Amino acid sequence: MKQIEIQGETKRSTIMIGECLKNLSNYIPSQDVVLITDETVSRYYQKDFPEFRAITIGTGERIKTLDTAGIIYQELLDMDAQRSTFIVGIGGGIVCDITGFVASTFLRGVRFGFVSSTLLSQVDASVGGKNGVNFKGFKNMVGVFNQPEFVICDLNLLKTLPERELLSGFAEVVKHAVIEDRDLFAFIENHAAKALALDQTVLERFVHDSVVIKSAVVNRDEKEKGERRKLNFGHTFGHAIEKTTGIPHGEAVSLGMVLAASLSVRKQLLSEKEFHRITRLLENLKLPTVLEYDKKEVMAALKKDKKREGDHIHFVLINGIGKSVITEISIQELTWMIDSR
Ligand code: GLY
Repeated sequence: MKQIEIQGETKRSTIMIGECLKNLSNYIPSQDVVLITDETVSRYYQKDFPEFRAITIGTGERIKTLDTAGIIYQELLDMDAQRSTFIVGIGGGIVCDITGFVASTFLRGVRFGFVSSTLLSQVDASVGGKNGVNFKGFKNMVGVFNQPEFVICDLNLLKTLPERELLSGFAEVVKHAVIEDRDLFAFIENHAAKALALDQTVLERFVHDSVVIKSAVVNRDEKEKGERRKLNFGHTFGHAIEKTTGIPHGEAVSLGMVLAASLSVRKQLLSEKEFHRITRLLENLKLPTVLEYDKKEVMAALKKDKKREGDHIHFVLINGIGKSVITEISIQELTWMIDSR
């Protein structure tokens, strides 16, 4: 097992890569614990849960709402949960986001941790301390910064992941490599086939290196005042495409990264050759690099982005593979760019 620490403003978070769900009891109190999970994770892994009361929610991005949070608050009240209650989210990004949000707000905040069960949540969603829910279809519009006490990334749980969900995780691993780590990028290029075949050593390196990159950035800028914005590479267009087409997060981020990389080429920051390395890698990982979508709808969604300030948006470009720059780009330029593709 490998451990990586995040020191938040008020709390420390330990990310454990290679630790197992079966050892969860070692990290939580012996009583007064509530588990939050979803129907799928419960079906496969309830047998390995410690014996505490569990709240089971549905699946899918659509349920990541204030309504679902309200249902969980009610269940916690019915269970007579107190300020001393410890909450553990066992699941993917949706379970972890809702758990973090509920735990941070119920009775003004109780202790919490995560067992992260999907590749996407192990490399991104459960790490970093952002916990939020969607509002009126817009992603993570309502939320808090608050670090979980621990995140267990159990690689064994990835064996039951449907392929499309695995691919979503690959997109975020590629993102980390593109913005920060040329060596990781070359490693993914050389091991794409093994990753698709769920080779444990390769997946462990993907999760480990992603968490190292993300936690280092979060340690320097937890509240996203500056540097942390680079983790949004591919997400400005990505979130807008996800909202308008309904495709999975990682696929939308893959398309968003292609658009951001293409803009980096136009601005003479990235060579054509490196642009093609990026698109080839995404294709080798079975991620989309082209898709027909309604450009007007995508731009309308993009205008609601949290990163927009007036007519501009904080946008991440790449200055060669492994280096990113945060710039301000006008909505007009992004509209022109998407129209001209
Ligand atoms: N919890 C996800 C993040 O902080 O980025």
